[in-house]
Amino acid sequence: MLFYVLVLSDVTFTSKWEINASFIMRIFTFLSKNTTPKIEYYSKFSPSPLSIKQFLDFGRDNACEKTSYMFLRKELPVRLANTMREVNLLPDNLLSQPSVKLVQKWYMQSFVELLGYENKSPEDPRALNEFLDLLIDIRNRHNDVVPTMAQGVIEYKEKFGFDPFISSNIQYFLDRFYTNRISFRMLINQHTLLFGNDTNPAHPKHIGSIDPHCSVAEVVTDAYETAKMLCEQYYMVAPKLEITEFNAKAPGKPIQVVYVPSHLLHMLFELFKNSMRASVELYENRLEELPPITTLVSLGKEDLSIKISDSGGGVPFRKIDRLFNYMYSTAPTPSLGATQAVPLGDLKLYSMEGVGTDAVIYLKALSSESFERLPVFNKSAWRHYQTSAEADDWSNPSSEPRDASKYKANP
Ligand SMILES: Nc1ncnc2c1ncn2[C@@H]1O[C@H](COP(=O)(O)OP(=O)(O)OP(=O)(O)O)[C@@H](O)[C@H]1O
Ligand SMILES: [Mg+2]
Repeated sequence: MLFYVLVLSDVTFTSKWEINASFIMRIFTFLSKNTTPKIEYYSKFSPSPLSIKQFLDFGRDNACEKTSYMFLRKELPVRLANTMREVNLLPDNLLSQPSVKLVQKWYMQSFVELLGYENKSPEDPRALNEFLDLLIDIRNRHNDVVPTMAQGVIEYKEKFGFDPFISSNIQYFLDRFYTNRISFRMLINQHTLLFGNDTNPAHPKHIGSIDPHCSVAEVVTDAYETAKMLCEQYYMVAPKLEITEFNAKAPGKPIQVVYVPSHLLHMLFELFKNSMRASVELYENRLEELPPITTLVSLGKEDLSIKISDSGGGVPFRKIDRLFNYMYSTAPTPSLGATQAVPLGDLKLYSMEGVGTDAVIYLKALSSESFERLPVFNKSAWRHYQTSAEADDWSNPSSEPRDASKYKANP
């Protein structure tokens, strides 16, 4: 066990220890082998998606730390194991990149540490406290998973170039991986906010990270103001904001939703930044006034939708899919890509090149309908990684006539 602590924590070894890298790798391999049956065991369970309403009801009605502990000590390893098995299906050349290995190490360490609570009684207050501390450690350890994974993709691209087959695998994987990660963190945050000391005094009415009366217009304004500050620092100007609300459920009333404001804020902030940059750059040398960014918030029976519209000249249709593609992106972390992994909603971009872009966020109007969308490691997921590269089944305008006979069904 001592070895495990040494190997898995990021200890800098002094010369006194004289432990060389291959020795460390051997112990790590040994540990991985011993943990494999456990990963297999936990990955056989499907993650249990919770609704915002379930989170809320649990947090409100005299939230019980023991119940939460019992749920999490099984659910967290289940979610980790599902992801860890899926990571292993990625191509070897990607798995061998140092950044990807580092992410795998973090997952393994957190998984092993959680296993330590498999048999610890919820009646033992020390176990409950230590579990809470462990959750905070795990959350911190996984802080940089998204940029580190993105770095791994860059390392791969530098060595092996762009490959459309690998790119579609990576796309499929990262969407699921990031979605899983947000939900995983949300579970941890709910527990630490409800039972730990990190309650937010600025929002005493929040249940964990959920605001039962989240004013959408307020979050829109917050996100706009933050993006505006950055934009003004860089360009000296920023477009104005116009918000319109359309409440079809209760006409005339401000629109509220039961939601996690920090998630919404993050998505809106990324969208505002993009809209501002496009607008300012397009109007840089024009005499006309910078057009405003307009936001329409609407509440229907099923959906709460937020549309951000800019007049920044838009994106050609051909490129829209690429905005969400992790491998095409030149940025270390494709912001839109990572933003799209919204466990409790959806994001769509509609653009008209020459005019501007509409980005629409769709959330569920009812908290009982708003479920986490969680990836499951199963046969259909597995199949996604197995199909081999094939010829395009649509014509491809090219200057040279190509011999496609080897791909023809009846050559
Ligand atoms: N509203 C928009 N109007 C015009 N082009 C856009 C808009 N939104 C995104 N784009 C284009 O899509 C690209 C990718 O956007 P994304 O937010 O993923 O990354 P980025 O903005 O380049 O980097 P970062 O968000 O990390 O600063 C942008 O560089 C821009 O060319
Ligand atoms: Mg951006």
